[in-house]
Amino acid sequence: MYQRIEPVIKWTGSKHRVAPILADLLPSAPRYFEPFVGSGAMLPFRPSKTAVAGDIIPELVQLWQLIRDEPAQVIKAYQQRWQRLQNEGHTIYYDIRRDFNSSRNPFDFLFLTRTCVNGLIRFNKNGDFNNSFHLTRPGIAPHRLDKLIQQWSVAIQQIDFVVSDYRQTLKEVKAGDARHAR
Ligand SMILES: C[S@@+](CC[C@H](N)C(=O)[O-])C[C@H]1O[C@@H](n2cnc3c(N)ncnc32)[C@H](O)[C@@H]1O
Repeated sequence: MYQRIEPVIKWTGSKHRVAPILADLLPSAPRYFEPFVGSGAMLPFRPSKTAVAGDIIPELVQLWQLIRDEPAQVIKAYQQRWQRLQNEGHTIYYDIRRDFNSSRNPFDFLFLTRTCVNGLIRFNKNGDFNNSFHLTRPGIAPHRLDKLIQQWSVAIQQIDFVVSDYRQTLKEVKAGDARHAR
């Protein structure tokens, strides 16, 4: 399964550029395990349709589930936040960041990944997202993100996204499965 798709969740340091090369090293297998899913660079290149993708950030896992199951809701939520940004300016980024840190809304999380400085997903020691707004970038336009969300939604239909420490995710790996590590 080889499919190059531009990232939907922005995450500096992801493996999106090298994913096709890494994918060549994976054996073919009935099931693929990704224990550190992050922005999911390897997912479109996984060797099997059926897969398990885990991460310890619950709102990230929820966002992946929403992209898979409710893509129209995801784009609507981004469009609303992006429009506020255009109308009211960058201070709304900080309102959304504050909301995210109190409610952990996955739609807020997507907006922050697309508009924070250099796509650096950064949490302080209290677990609060603390990167700033990328002043010189307006955030991806909703019509472009819409296309990406739809492509990703189709590509991840048979992936089970789980909130899980990597050690737990890897315990489920059976003989013959393929797995990836960060
Ligand atoms: C650099 S990102 C993963 C990159 C991903 N492979 C990609 O290229 O898009 C690292 C991810 O590992 C997750 N992570 C860190 N510690 C973890 C743990 N103990 N168990 C599961 N996930 C963890 C983080 O939340 C983050 O989403």
